[in-house]
Amino acid sequence: MIPYLKKHWFWIAVNIGALLPLLLLILDVINGRLVDPIADITNRTGYTALVLLVLSLAVTPLNSLTGWRTVLTVRKSLGLQGFFYVCLHLFTFLGLDYAFNLSQILGDALVTKPYIIVGFSAFLILTPLAITSTKGWMKRLGRNWKKLHRLVYLAVPLAVIHYFWVLKVPVEPVTYGIVVALLLVARIPAVRRRLNQVRKLLDSKPAVSRPKGRLEPMPEPVRNAE
Ligand code: HEM
Repeated sequence: MIPYLKKHWFWIAVNIGALLPLLLLILDVINGRLVDPIADITNRTGYTALVLLVLSLAVTPLNSLTGWRTVLTVRKSLGLQGFFYVCLHLFTFLGLDYAFNLSQILGDALVTKPYIIVGFSAFLILTPLAITSTKGWMKRLGRNWKKLHRLVYLAVPLAVIHYFWVLKVPVEPVTYGIVVALLLVARIPAVRRRLNQVRKLLDSKPAVSRPKGRLEPMPEPVRNAE
């Protein structure tokens, strides 16, 4: 038990940390601390989803820049936990807000809240990525797995646009937009090589991408990720 904890402490801590916003939300609901429960649940699940998805995008550049290999072990978890919150967010909207009334959703919501189309597009893109995040699917899809999982670079910017659209004073969405743009630029092979060079300059150790410990396959293979 102790050796397992020692080896996987970071993975465990990140996964527990990712579930904390949900725990706090449940406690706030139970204790009646939410002023406008449906709006609060929608906003908090949406915000947590975005943060986790952005963090999952940040993993590879962080590894390139620092050579910190353990961080790679949480990339898939961050992506999946982000998707989990997206599902809660969507369920809140469809179930709690609109009681699954499809005609009201299609008639009223699409007109008064057009930003949900962008959010829903992000959800539709993320769904096959979450489903195929297992090792079995990785094997089955072969080279196409990587191509498919590149769609995350489309889904997260769409989520940022959705956020941008929701808020009337878009200081935070703009910040997220810049962060996501930088993280996408960091995937360009030439930029990645530069990041690796910077790291080598800072640290004389050779570049190693693959951790010895637990390595999860999402969102793309470590060595050839762009
Ligand atoms: C990747 C998918 C998505 C992400 C990351 C996301 C994220 C967000 C964020 C960050 C907010 C604003 C939270 C705040 O104000 O602090 C938000 C609000 C909202 N989202 Fe999403 N969202 C996604 C998909 C969707 C989908 C699929 C729907 C519904 C079909 C949806 C409906 C809404 C609604 C109704 C609001 C509240 C708008 C308001 O305050 O008036 N979102 N979302």
